[in-house]
Amino acid sequence: MAILRGDNGPVKQKAMQILVALGEIFDADKLIDVESAQISGVSYKTIGDTGLQWVESMSTEKVVIPTTLNPTGMDLHLWRQMGISHEFAAKQIQIINAYSRFGVKSLCSCTPYLSGHSPKFKDHIAWAESSAVCYANSVLGARTNREGGPSALASALIGKTANYGYHLDENRKPTLCVDLDVHLHAESDFSALGVSIGKKVNNGVPYFTGIENPSADSLKSLAASLAASGGVALYHVEGVTPEAYSLQVGGIETINFTSDELVSSYDALSTFQSGAVDLVAIGCPHASLSEMKKVAALAKGKKVANNTKLWVFTSAGVKLMAERFGYLKDIIKAGGEVYTDCCMVVAPIEQLGFKTMAVNSGKAAIYSPSASKVEVIFGTTGRCVDIAMKGFA
Ligand code: F3S
Repeated sequence: MAILRGDNGPVKQKAMQILVALGEIFDADKLIDVESAQISGVSYKTIGDTGLQWVESMSTEKVVIPTTLNPTGMDLHLWRQMGISHEFAAKQIQIINAYSRFGVKSLCSCTPYLSGHSPKFKDHIAWAESSAVCYANSVLGARTNREGGPSALASALIGKTANYGYHLDENRKPTLCVDLDVHLHAESDFSALGVSIGKKVNNGVPYFTGIENPSADSLKSLAASLAASGGVALYHVEGVTPEAYSLQVGGIETINFTSDELVSSYDALSTFQSGAVDLVAIGCPHASLSEMKKVAALAKGKKVANNTKLWVFTSAGVKLMAERFGYLKDIIKAGGEVYTDCCMVVAPIEQLGFKTMAVNSGKAAIYSPSASKVEVIFGTTGRCVDIAMKGFA
């Protein structure tokens, strides 16, 4: 009550008002402690001057729990190499400085769980990046709603969230069973599956059967695409994800996912099929160490075409590991570039002269045509790297 009354200052009061308002809207019975926060709305491209002013107006208080940021609009060190304008960079740095005043760690990544910011099973958290929310809920078994930037910041400042939605057992049960009739191989197959099922289930909870021994990268791709196409915040995979073991699945609709649907989903994600490709962008969500290894192996001994760029997006922590393992050297030697703190969707791609792009991510394929005004080809990592070497599809 004291915080709400303003006893702890206007910023904490505003943060508490946001949490209480959410609790009232969603009929929460109480506020609960959260272990960590992850804040979205960090790129100047997405929040603009209005967002910058709001963040600056709040940045007189410190966060009280471990908090990280979503990708910004540029690599905070290599932005000149990316071709980012000084005007954009100045605004972006202003935003990062404002977040620093909160005491937020400038780990700017949508995969904080790959850089040591990983919640435990059943931890309550307040994360905002939709792909990370879906991964944390589904694969790690943590509990978070799809927070917005302001509500995640409010939780970071107060250390609490309203007890509703995915924090409650009853909302974590499956609403649709999806039985796979096709064996998935590539991470992009999981992306295509997620895009197709996300549209069908909307913001429900899909329960997948028939997925055998998926990699963590595949589950990451599935999380991102389900979240992007349908608003999914939680999925289960029989025999794989932690909560799937204890769920009773019965009395809900079951649909099949076939090889024809997989092909259709691939086709629907490309806006063009052949021609010159300006940019090949890998790393949505941010590439893991094993994905860096894969790109390095595919690029080793080859050369990116003169008219094309190969950009790989990852977190600062994974880039450092990739350097130690020698993957970075192989990618750069082939003419590729590895960027941190940003991605192909929230960087100002439209200002950098790119008109066509190849991606291995369903989420990037969904967002990029509108967010970055580019035509898109969606394919496997192997096809994308091959396009980068040839310069065309
Ligand atoms: Fe991450 Fe950017 Fe994709 S924030 S999930 S790489 S759109």
